[in-house]
Amino acid sequence: MFVDRKNSYGPNIEIESEWTPFKASVDAFMGADTTWTAHPIVGGENLETDKVREVNSPYDHSLNVGKVYWSNTEIVNKAIDTADAAFPAWSKTPATDRAACLERMAELMEENYAELVAICHREAGKTIQDSIDEVREAVDFCNYYAQQVRQNFAAPKVFTNFQGKTQQSQLTGRGVFACISPWNFPLAIFTGQVVAALAAGNAVVCKAAEQTSLIAFRAVQMLHEAGIPKDVLHFLPGNGATVGAPMTQHKRIAGLAFTGSTGTAQLINRTLASRGVAPVPVIAETGGQNAMLVDSTSLPEQVVRDAVRSAFASAGQRCSALRVLFVQADIADRVIPMIAGAMKEQTVGLPYLHSTDVGPVIDEKAQKMLLDHIEVMKKEGRLIAQAELPEWADKGTFVAPTAFEISSIDQLKDEKFGPIMHVVRYKAKDLDKIIDTINNSGFGLTMGVHSRNETTCAHIANRARVGNLYINRDQVGAVVGVQPFGGQGLSGTGPKAGGPHYLPRFAKEQLV
Ligand code: SER
Repeated sequence: MFVDRKNSYGPNIEIESEWTPFKASVDAFMGADTTWTAHPIVGGENLETDKVREVNSPYDHSLNVGKVYWSNTEIVNKAIDTADAAFPAWSKTPATDRAACLERMAELMEENYAELVAICHREAGKTIQDSIDEVREAVDFCNYYAQQVRQNFAAPKVFTNFQGKTQQSQLTGRGVFACISPWNFPLAIFTGQVVAALAAGNAVVCKAAEQTSLIAFRAVQMLHEAGIPKDVLHFLPGNGATVGAPMTQHKRIAGLAFTGSTGTAQLINRTLASRGVAPVPVIAETGGQNAMLVDSTSLPEQVVRDAVRSAFASAGQRCSALRVLFVQADIADRVIPMIAGAMKEQTVGLPYLHSTDVGPVIDEKAQKMLLDHIEVMKKEGRLIAQAELPEWADKGTFVAPTAFEISSIDQLKDEKFGPIMHVVRYKAKDLDKIIDTINNSGFGLTMGVHSRNETTCAHIANRARVGNLYINRDQVGAVVGVQPFGGQGLSGTGPKAGGPHYLPRFAKEQLV
């Protein structure tokens, strides 16, 4: 019996390793004939356009999951204008009513759990367990932000000065917020951004990653059902050129939430700035070059378990995933062969089997980038281990978990978003130099530390410039409301999703 540990706000579903009624209900949505269709939704109307993207599953390209009608500039402009007209009434809607919509959305996702798991699994190629975690995280975001909006937006904060005069400070929406989300958490991050912007009192236009619009479309349908007015929330599927560009060029966009690559965040900033209107907040969560530091006092078995999970869970397609493992030289000859052994046990397979540890990567472009990197590393590094690929792997976009030993993090030019781990040996006397080299990469998302020396842990935590630092555990799977998540520097502007400082960044504050 496996009981999911991510259960802070969501339902308590237990998954047995064999068939259960829950798995059967997921499978009912995964019959060969089940497909989904996504449309642009403007003013509650599903639109059809002449640009259609067929969606095939990353784990089996012959399996059609559905189709997506893409938006165009005209649709984007119409959505923003409609949202702009709807904003004043929505921003005056009591914050408690907005919170109630989020809570209803959480309930609707729980009622539709099996379908959402099935779409996530088929469209994004996530394992069943990852898909369950995904829905649960989306539920958590809704309930957490509902609680936050009740606390911070429902009534003004009152300040009194020494003469007894009172001041009131009130948070309100900014206008039309644009939300642009990635494919690696196609429901959780999409929902988290959108409900945060709505809860703070904004009207919203949202674009999901082009690879994962089907699940986002269902989420928008459910948000409307949960009570979000149809002129307040609009869905714009497409890619950067068809939707991202006209969205960020529009003068009425009053703020933007983005999760994706650092380069795209920089482009968004430039485009928004070039509009010649008032500067607006950009809440960006971007790339990383995440490290784990392991010293000679650590427990090797624990290190291996946590490093392997951090690097290869979700096929390494988490922003938080471990990319470079630094092992103190004194224990490297013990730890590295243990990692190789553990990697041989990683089962690459069909994501709907419980025996699968690692499913496919998202698409052929990602697969090619990763395979090219593996070829480069075979020349520039030392292969530690590579898991087996099944014979039929070319049916989908699979990449075998692979680890290389390299001499320095500087050998890596940019983040390789997938199941590839790099290992570097370091001497104890060079610890500070290593931390500084990691800092100098400019990225600052997650870091793991394994040490039984508390002074070392505190020293690293103090010197490292990262958003989320995890000690003696894995470094993935931040829990909403418990481990607010987000980076610094090239990894993002903050504030942290799932934390208490997130919603105010979507708002204006007026003092009277
Ligand atoms: N929030 C995710 C994690 O912590 C990454 O996006 O793994």
